[in-house]
Amino acid sequence: AQEETEDEHEFSYVPGDEHGPAHWGEIKPEWAACGAGRMQSPIDLSHDRVSLVRSLGYLRDSYRPAQASIVNRGHDIMVRFSGDAGSVWINGTSYALKQMHWHSPSEHTVGGRRRAMELHLVHESAAGKAAVVGVLYDVGERGDALLSALEPAIRRIADRGDHEEDVGVVDPRGARGTASVYYRYMGSLTTPPCTEGVIWTIVKRVRSVSKDQLELLREAVHDDMENNARPLQEVNGRDISMFRP
Ligand code: MLT
Ligand code: ZN
Repeated sequence: AQEETEDEHEFSYVPGDEHGPAHWGEIKPEWAACGAGRMQSPIDLSHDRVSLVRSLGYLRDSYRPAQASIVNRGHDIMVRFSGDAGSVWINGTSYALKQMHWHSPSEHTVGGRRRAMELHLVHESAAGKAAVVGVLYDVGERGDALLSALEPAIRRIADRGDHEEDVGVVDPRGARGTASVYYRYMGSLTTPPCTEGVIWTIVKRVRSVSKDQLELLREAVHDDMENNARPLQEVNGRDISMFRP
């Protein structure tokens, strides 16, 4: 199951901090994978490691609008679905969409290039296996439709750590675009407990978020959490696949 961090002050993103990313694995025994894991996320999707795997096929989903709440977890803003928001299909298994949240700057890099923001769509199978779809954003003229719809709610929960409130029906369709080209690799959660066995899908097409939307997300979390991107982790010989029609 998707584990929640009970106290958002237990870890930070500040590099030199005693609760910073280099020490997450020492903070609690249950977080050991953050330090000792060999298949951690995020990583750089470097061009020379990526192999085309046509058999991956198109990323298929059955997303639909569903009842949700919005939560300020202190380290990020999350939309949690209480209703059935549909699923993605990966290797014949259905992974139900549970929650979405944002990191800035992006956690994954492609060919060494970091983007302004990364949306994570977190899914879980009936057997409790996690699959996360990541969408990268650059700051541009055009705002993001999903964020536009959520702006008033995000403003209401700004700076209120641990606060959760109902936002009615949220539509996840369109959140990841067509995603016809994507990367796939095996990794972990990017926050403690850094659990491994997560199937990662990173959409190649970079989308656009407005400067104001990005600012709003950053200002809504705790002061020391404005940068909520975990540093890049070792690839350790993992395969990185890419699907392209
Ligand atoms: C992740 O995307 O790995 C997360 O930030 C973990 C989470 O949602 O708690
Ligand atoms: Zn995430």
